[in-house]
Amino acid sequence: MVAVNTSDLHATAEAMVADGKGILAADESSGTIAKRFAEISVESTAENRRGYREALFGAPDLEKYISGVILYDETIRQQMSDGAPMPRYLASRGIIPGIKVDKGLVTFRPGSSEQITEGLDGLNDRLVEYRELGARFAKWRALFHIGPGLPTELCIHDHAWLLGRYARMCLDNGIVPIVEPEVLMDGDHDMARDAEVTRAVLHAVFAELRAHEIDLRGMVLKPNMVTPGSKVFDTATPAEVARATVDVLRECVPAEVPGIAFLSGGQTEEQATKNLDEIAKLGPHPWHITFSFGRALQSSALRAWAGKASNQEQARQALIERASENSRVLVAAGR
Ligand code: 13P
Repeated sequence: MVAVNTSDLHATAEAMVADGKGILAADESSGTIAKRFAEISVESTAENRRGYREALFGAPDLEKYISGVILYDETIRQQMSDGAPMPRYLASRGIIPGIKVDKGLVTFRPGSSEQITEGLDGLNDRLVEYRELGARFAKWRALFHIGPGLPTELCIHDHAWLLGRYARMCLDNGIVPIVEPEVLMDGDHDMARDAEVTRAVLHAVFAELRAHEIDLRGMVLKPNMVTPGSKVFDTATPAEVARATVDVLRECVPAEVPGIAFLSGGQTEEQATKNLDEIAKLGPHPWHITFSFGRALQSSALRAWAGKASNQEQARQALIERASENSRVLVAAGR
């Protein structure tokens, strides 16, 4: 275990949500990146995954808009073409390297459509190693499905407990935890139902964070925006999404949390940016507001790259277009 410096943890958390900067989620697991590559008919080899991440991370001016990058276990050990380890390369540009530490989702109970996150076993040793490799923050994702009778109280409780225990282990190892409870957009539920579930989840999560004596100033919350289900997504305007999201967050998230970095959850690039814009405009908020998008930062860049090193520049331009646009709406809102 490292000697933990609390003010370093606070400073890292603050830097992750610094004004006008967001976090690039590039931590797709091997299974998820294979799905993304299949959409562009690219084979998911280690070299293609490396080349794609190099295309993203080498984008000029990325550090103007991106405070940190979430890496995957394979990526944190990979190198840029010139041999620089990816986390060291990012850090040299002033971008904080982070690491996804959960091991993904499994069926919650036989016959249940709910899922639970795995990954606590051996986590302490992995955190020690990831810190040596350069990671200064981590991410753990909990997932909640909305449906008849779902999510169950037990599933909410177990995910919340896992997030509390994960956050405890991160802080004890000098790593800032991103706490990510994602209420899935999938379905035809209305926005009020999404708000109700998100509220219940966040209440449970903060109760467990308190129970695990988590220093809230040393963490970042990564929640979903409150929206209607994906099948009826257009039934609320961005202004209505923003109002519902901010109302729930204000009720559930203590002001000590330095920042809230939204996931995009399957929204298009434009939808996610528009909603972020409206959320930022409702400020000032008690916390910094920013983005930690995966798909909503990468979709155009992935298509532009299309598996070819010769498309690297176009991919970089596409990423910068999204990152700078999200940054711009935050700055414009005077956040
Ligand atoms: P999306 O923005 O694509 O939802 O990804 C963010 C993320 O990190 C999911 O865990």
